[in-house]
Amino acid sequence: MEHANDSALRQRAAQVIPNGMYGHMAIGPRMPAGYPQFFSRAEGARLWDVDGREYIDYVCSYGPMIVGYGNSRVNARASAQRKAMDIGNGPAETIVELAERLVGMVAHADWAVFSKNGNDATTTCIMAARAYAGKSKVLVANGAYHGSQPWANRRAPGAPVGEHDAFPTYDYNDSTSLEQAAQACGGDLAGIMVSAFRHDAGYHQELTDPQFAATVRRLCDQYDAALILDDVRAGFRLSLDASWSLLGIRPDLSAWGKALANGEALAATLGSERYREAMASVFVTGSYWYQAAPMAAALETLDILTEEDAPTRLEALGERLRRGIDEIAELHQQRLRQSGPPQMPTIMFEDDPKAERGSAFCSALIERGVYFHPWHNMFLSLAHTEADIDRTLEAVDAAMKAL
Ligand SMILES: Cc1ncc(COP(=O)(O)O)c(C=O)c1O
Repeated sequence: MEHANDSALRQRAAQVIPNGMYGHMAIGPRMPAGYPQFFSRAEGARLWDVDGREYIDYVCSYGPMIVGYGNSRVNARASAQRKAMDIGNGPAETIVELAERLVGMVAHADWAVFSKNGNDATTTCIMAARAYAGKSKVLVANGAYHGSQPWANRRAPGAPVGEHDAFPTYDYNDSTSLEQAAQACGGDLAGIMVSAFRHDAGYHQELTDPQFAATVRRLCDQYDAALILDDVRAGFRLSLDASWSLLGIRPDLSAWGKALANGEALAATLGSERYREAMASVFVTGSYWYQAAPMAAALETLDILTEEDAPTRLEALGERLRRGIDEIAELHQQRLRQSGPPQMPTIMFEDDPKAERGSAFCSALIERGVYFHPWHNMFLSLAHTEADIDRTLEAVDAAMKAL
């Protein structure tokens, strides 16, 4: 297949961008053959690459897109705010409105602080937890992703030596390993960070064991440490409250981003009353952290998510996809494993540790106009329709035939 525009852009990028592209959007080393690096248009649940090929998108910009690319309601509200004022020497009324809205929606939250990226929000949680406790260590799960800033980034060079000493690890869903890690902090435990569920890239996903969640809460209470929920990736897809509300567990602090403003740059740290004073004592800021247009986009996004009962709708769409794929896989005698909540499915093959089979499957799908990910969780959105799912299933059938 000819991808002339994409190839030309890749060649130009290789001259001026290290590796030709960085991070999770670097196609070259990360994605199977046939995936485009560059896109030119997005609408609803569709993406078009720079060579004009159209895809039904199940990656949703890795999470931010939740009500559809270019959603007219979100665009209109953000544009009106942008026209009136986006940044100034102080924030607009929207910051108060959005904080009120989130405090009303998320049961554990009594206050909000806004920022730009999920990693800003997880970092702010850590600072609030330490400021409250006067202690330094925060436990994180082995392999969990909380952002690419040095404290959160164990996989790559670039962090100062010792940067991760303050972040001992435990194994997700393993209460014993968590208890041991907490004890090993020797009285210096400021917080325990958890994800909505185990959604590490490259692995089958694991839902959170309710017993484990209860242990996290108990240990946080025992050590007077903050339970920090990183809801950046899963936020608003599983629940319109914090994701651990489904387990009956309240975090003390939670981090949000991605879907909050349907793709406008916005993240939030939410916290309970107990952490208000500590948060107030921490100096956090950024030139763009007060931008009003993304906050207006968030208000409209949250309206739509509430009106359409997003978690239930996304679950139904995800179940339709999951059921259909299971039936087709059985027909073709392919040993697939679908994991995670239906709203955020991971689809990988059994006994495929290097994702070779998964990559061949995804390459066959990309040729047929469906954008899947071979080893990262995917996302459903309110812009997907039953007809999209059914068209996707036809492509899945054809791709499996071609394997
Ligand atoms: C669970 C989780 N936490 C934090 C982050 C960091 O968010 P951002 O990329 O917006 O900084 C991500 C991003 O993928 C994430 O999935």
